[in-house]
Order: sequence, then C-alpha cells, then structure tokens
Amino acid sequence: MSTTATLATDVDLTDPAFVADPYPVLADLRALGPVVRHEARGTWLATSHASVSAVLRDRAFGRVWTDHEPAAQMAPFNALHRHQMMENEPPQHTRLRRLVAGAFGRGHVERMRPRVHALTTRLLDEFDGPVVDVVGAYAEPLPVLVIADLLGVPGEDHELLRDWSQAIVRMYEHDVDAPTRDAAVAASTAFSDYVRAFVAERRGDPRDDLVTDLIAATDEGGRLSEDELVASVVLLLNAGHEASVNAFGNGLAALLARPDQLARVTSGEVPVAVALEELLRFDAPLQLFERTCLRDTEVLGTPVAAGETVACLMGSANRDEAVFAAADELDVARDPNPHVGFGMGVHFCLGAPLARLELQISLGELLDRHPDLRATAHAPRRPTFVLRGLEHLDVTLTGGPHP
Ligand code: HEM
Repeated sequence: MSTTATLATDVDLTDPAFVADPYPVLADLRALGPVVRHEARGTWLATSHASVSAVLRDRAFGRVWTDHEPAAQMAPFNALHRHQMMENEPPQHTRLRRLVAGAFGRGHVERMRPRVHALTTRLLDEFDGPVVDVVGAYAEPLPVLVIADLLGVPGEDHELLRDWSQAIVRMYEHDVDAPTRDAAVAASTAFSDYVRAFVAERRGDPRDDLVTDLIAATDEGGRLSEDELVASVVLLLNAGHEASVNAFGNGLAALLARPDQLARVTSGEVPVAVALEELLRFDAPLQLFERTCLRDTEVLGTPVAAGETVACLMGSANRDEAVFAAADELDVARDPNPHVGFGMGVHFCLGAPLARLELQISLGELLDRHPDLRATAHAPRRPTFVLRGLEHLDVTLTGGPHP
C-alpha cells in the first residue's frame, strides 16, 4: 500500500543544537513516519529501524559514487573513492570485497589480539598525570596503530596516517567549505603516494602482513589493480580509524555519566563484550549513510523514484522504541541488541570483528586498571553530525576529587 501524503521536514542537520544532541529531533522525525521527505536537501530520510534496514538490504538501492567537482582538482580524492568496495555496488563491489576480505580474514584479525593488548598496555603506561584526555591519549592512537600493524605499515608513521585520514573523512559531512576540500585533496595525494611507495617496497620484499596478502590477492576476476590496491589500503586505514575513536569516546562518556551502568561493567556482572554493543547502539559514531535509488521502488509504502537519494539515520534506528524497549535508556546488559551500528546488507562493516576486538580490549583494560575512572567535566562534542564524536574526554584516574 502506498501512502498518499508525503511526510516532510526541514530539520537542519548542521544546526549546532541538533549536532549537540540529535536524539530528541530524531524522535520527532520517527513520530512523523519511517520515511520522511527533506525538500531543502532534496532527499528522503529513513528514520526507523524498519526503514533503515529495508533500504540497506534492498538491492534497488546502492552506494553510487559521484566524482566531486571540479574533477581535475578533486582527481586524487575521487580516485581513492572510485576504486574501493565501499563506493561500488555488485558486481564490482563483490569482487573488491572478496579480494580484500580474503586477505583480511586470513587469521589476521584474531592474531591481532596480543598485539592490541600490547598496544593498549603501552598507551596506558604512558598516561601522565591525574587527569588524562582518554580520547586523545588512548582512543585516537590505538586504531591507527592497530590497522597500521595489521597492514604492515611502520607504526612510527601513524601520526601522518591519522592526519591524512582525518582530512579525508571531513569531506563526508554536509556543506563542506573550500579549505576542507583543499586539505582533503592534499591528504589524498600524500596518502596515495605513501601507499604506492609502500606497496612497491613490499612487492620486492614480501612479509607476513595484510599488504603482502593484498598484493597476492587473486580470484577469477583477476588481481586487484594497482589503483584498487591503493584505494583499498586507504579505505582500511580511514574506515578503521574515525569510527573506532568515536565509538570509544561516545561509549565511555555515556558510561561515565551513568555510574550504576558503569558499576555493572567494572564489577564483572556484565561482560565488556556485551556492554560495548549497547554503547554502539546508544550513541552511534556513524549517524548517516546515503543510498541512491537505482530503479523505482517503495520503502514501507512510500514510493521512491530512480535517482532519488535516501539518508539512513543510523542513530535514529538505534533509538527506535518499536525494536528497543526504553530505547533512550542505556542498559549495558541489553540482549538481544539488533543495533545497526555496523550497517546491514552487502556493505556490512568488513572491520566489525576487528572493531569489536579493539573496543573490548581497550575499554576492558582501561576499566580494569582504573575502575574508579571519572569524567572531570562535560566533554565537548565535535561540530559534525555524520561522524559523531568527542573533541576530548578528560578523566581522573583515581576517582578522587578533581585536583
Ligand atoms: C566501531 C567502529 C566501526 C563502526 C561503527 C563501523 C561501521 C561501519 C558501517 C555502518 C559500515 C557500512 C557503511 C554503509 O552501509 O554504507 C561500514 C563499512 C565498512 N567498514 Fe566499518 N566500522 C567500524 C570499524 C571498522 C574497522 C576497524 C574497519 C577496518 C579496519 C572497518 C572497515 C570497513 C569497511 C572496509 C567497510 C566497507 C564495507 C563494504 O563496502 O562492503 N570498519 N563500517
């Protein structure tokens, strides 16, 4: 059955008040309906768990990469996106994902467990002073060190990688300005050159690492081309970075604001592996993913025409009362917890096992070592909606009064 009237909104997704706390507005959007028209942006919004799931699973929708303009100036940025799995649909997506997943899955992730332990221990040992910014000193370096380690890229280059990655992902927000674009292009060029040189080195000196496996990656569709190999390595570094940092920061801040829930984790009543799923649900680090309609279809009764776009509001789906009882409450033991934090359908997060491993170890080790951890003050948010995270999160390690 199709709806006759179109439900519409003009919510400003860049409004600082919305970015600071989008959840009340997202609840209003869900109350309007599961699929809402946003005329100003010329897009549909999928607001509910059912509509987000439907769009992400429906092959009538896809991620369609459109080169950023001006094409000549944006070429390095465009090339990194055009040639990787996340910006492609089957059959290209299937081939790229199979090749990368084959190399990625070859025992690399589970083998990372002791390495992640060693890295978290090192970072925890380096904590200096009674007050520490755990986002800057812990959550930020860890995922880059881990993915660099997995790929075989020298750890000492992690700051370079982090800066490039941050400059590139800033382009995923709405309404970016010219300096942001220029910085993303410069970072894309530097990042590609770096990876190309590294790949060349590994071709002559194969090692037991992911880049060596990617170089060897073959299937009936053939090897990864050089451009695809470079774009895939950059994708792994970018995708493996920002979301993990923000998942940690958002999750720990939510936990520290609720001492009763924190105590359930530190006492061992609720395993960290269970709690982290609820933290991902409660304050999603990735709030919006867009799909383009590939042929006329409908989403839960709302007609969507070929060429139109739908923005899937992941944080809204995760607060949908139709699926999660007391959805605005953090319940670290929530089970089942079918949150959409890692997506759904063909683009389901390839790095989910690694992200879970990292979060489990980093949160677990931090709380083990500092069970009386407390936030010292309200943690400032980054001014971005799509990638939702904290600027910093200052904590006292002893739980004593603020020095
Ligand atoms: C808590 C951390 C993370 C979250 C919340 C997250 C979330 C997501 C989501 C929602 C998608 C789907 C995007 C879409 O449907 O358009 C995705 C895709 C992806 N993620 Fe993650 N991710 C995380 C960490 C990682 C890590 C650590 C890696 C790898 C090192 C990674 C690699 C990827 C890749 C390669 C894709 C594209 C998959 C495809 O297009 O088939 N992610 N991620």
